Amino acid sequence: SILIVDFGSQVTQLIARRVREAGVYCEIAPFNSAAEAFERLAPKGVIFSGGPSSVTWEDSPRAPQILFDSGVPLLGICYGQQTLHQQLGGRVVSSDNREFGRAFVEVVAPSALFEGVWNVGESHQVWMSHGDRVETLAPGFAVVATSPGAPFAIATDEANRRYSMMFHPEVVHTPDGGKLLANFVHKICGVSSDWSMGAYREAKIKEIREQVGSGRVICGLSGGVDSSVAAILIHEAVGSQLTCVFVDHGLLRLNEREQVERLFRDHYNIPLVVVDAEERFMSGLAGVTDPEAKRKFIGGEFIAVFEEEAKKLGGADFLAQGTLYPDVIESVSFTGGPSVTIKSHHNVGGLPERMNMKLVEPLRELFKDEVRALGRELGLNDQFVGRHPFPGPGLAIRIPGEVTKERCDILRKADAIYLEEIRNAGLYDAIWQAFAVLLPVRTVGVMGDHRTYDSVCGLRAVTSVDGMTADVFPFDPAFLSRVATRIVNEVQGINRVVYDYTSKPPGTIEWE
Ligand code: XMP
Repeated sequence: SILIVDFGSQVTQLIARRVREAGVYCEIAPFNSAAEAFERLAPKGVIFSGGPSSVTWEDSPRAPQILFDSGVPLLGICYGQQTLHQQLGGRVVSSDNREFGRAFVEVVAPSALFEGVWNVGESHQVWMSHGDRVETLAPGFAVVATSPGAPFAIATDEANRRYSMMFHPEVVHTPDGGKLLANFVHKICGVSSDWSMGAYREAKIKEIREQVGSGRVICGLSGGVDSSVAAILIHEAVGSQLTCVFVDHGLLRLNEREQVERLFRDHYNIPLVVVDAEERFMSGLAGVTDPEAKRKFIGGEFIAVFEEEAKKLGGADFLAQGTLYPDVIESVSFTGGPSVTIKSHHNVGGLPERMNMKLVEPLRELFKDEVRALGRELGLNDQFVGRHPFPGPGLAIRIPGEVTKERCDILRKADAIYLEEIRNAGLYDAIWQAFAVLLPVRTVGVMGDHRTYDSVCGLRAVTSVDGMTADVFPFDPAFLSRVATRIVNEVQGINRVVYDYTSKPPGTIEWE
C-alpha cells in the first residue's frame, strides 16, 4: 500500500483517487498522525500532499522523521516538496512571485518518475499552485524538469528514490499526472495493481463474517446507493442474519418504495421490513415551516421508528451503515474552531449507543465512485448505481413552508417529469443532482380561457465533485421550455416553472 500524508491541501483526496485508479490501495493520514499510520500500514511508499501553510513559518506542519529514516520512496507535491527539501537540508524561501494555474514544464533530464511518459527535451502542461519556492535543493537532488516560474519544477534524488514536484499531478489540469503517480507507485515503489473491486468484495465478506459471527445485523435502507451496496454485501456475507428496514416517511420520490421492495425482496431475496410511517411524519410536520425544525423532527422521528422496528425484530447486535471514506478522513484544519452549522444533516447517529449495537461499515475505505464499481460487481445495474444523491429528509426540504401529503404528491409528479426528460435527453450522468422544488407562493396564469392561481415549481440541476461546491447545469433553453410545458400541462396545482440559477456558494444545493 501507499501512505499519503495530508498537509491540508484541498485536493489531497484526489491523490488517493489517482493512486487507487492505478490499482493500488492507499490511505490518507494527517501529518500529525502519519507516524502511527506508517507503522500500522507498513506502506511501500509515501506521498506528501500540498497544503496552505508556508514552511518558512516556525510552527508549520512537518513530516515525521520516521518517514525519512525508513528509506521507503518519497514523493513531495507542492508544500510536500518544500517540507521534504527543508527537512532534508535544503532551503525554502517565500516568494513574491506566486504562481497559480496552467504552466508548462520542460524536461531536462531523465527520471524514473516519467519513464515511458515524458522524454528529455519535451514540454508538458501542468497545474501550478504555490507561493514559496525551494532556493537550495537538499543534498543529493538534481533538477529534471523546469519551468520559467519554477526552476525546480521537478527535482529528484534517484539513488535514494526521493522525488519532488512543485505542481499538482493529481488534478486533471495536469494531463499526464495520473501516469506520473502510477510510475511512482508501480515502478519506483514496486507495488503491483491488486486493488480491484473483486478483491475488495472477497476480503470484506471474510471480514464481515469474522466481525459478525452469529450475531444479528440490522440495516437502514434509504434507497440510495451507499446503504444498498452495504446491505447487499453484508447479505452476501451473512445471509439471513441481516434484516433491512426501509422507512417510508411519505417524503420519497415517485415509485421509490416499490423500487426498493422489488430490488431487495424480489431480486436479492433479502429480508426487508417496510415501515409505513407516512401518517406519522405528516401529522408531525403539520404547521412546521422552519427548515431546521423540519430537519430535526424528521431526524428524530426516523430514529424513533427505526428503534421501534429493531425492537420488534427482537433487537440486533450490529447496525450496518454505508459510511464512505470521505466521511472518515480526519480533515486537517488550519483555521481552528468549529465550523458553522449550515444545515443539520440527517443520519441514524446516536442510535448504536442507545441500542447498544456495534457498527458494521463495509464501505469505510471507499470513495463514491468505488462504491458504484462495487455495486456493479454485486450485480446492480448502471442506472441504479449512478443515481443522484437524495437527502434523508427527502421532499420535506424541497417544499419550503408547510409540508402536506397533497404538496408531496404534486412535487412527486413534477419531479418525475423533470427527471424523465433529463434521462431522455441523455443528460442524467452529466449532472450531480437534479430535482424539482415546490414553492409556497401562488401566481396567476391562464390556461385555455381560464384564469389559474396555482403554485410555482422551481427546477434545480447542478454539477459538483463532492457536493461541497456546485455549479448550475447549463441546460439548453429549449429543454427547459419542454419541461416547463409538460409540468404545467400534466401536474394539477402548478402553473409556473422557474429555473434556479444559483451556484453553491452562495446558494446550497437543497433549498432548505
Ligand atoms: P446542500 O443542500 O447542503 O447539500 O448544498 C449538499 C449535498 O448533501 C445532500 N443533503 C443531505 N444528504 N441528509 C443527507 O443524506 C441530509 O440531511 C442532507 N441535506 C442535504 C444534498 O442533497 C446534496 O447532495
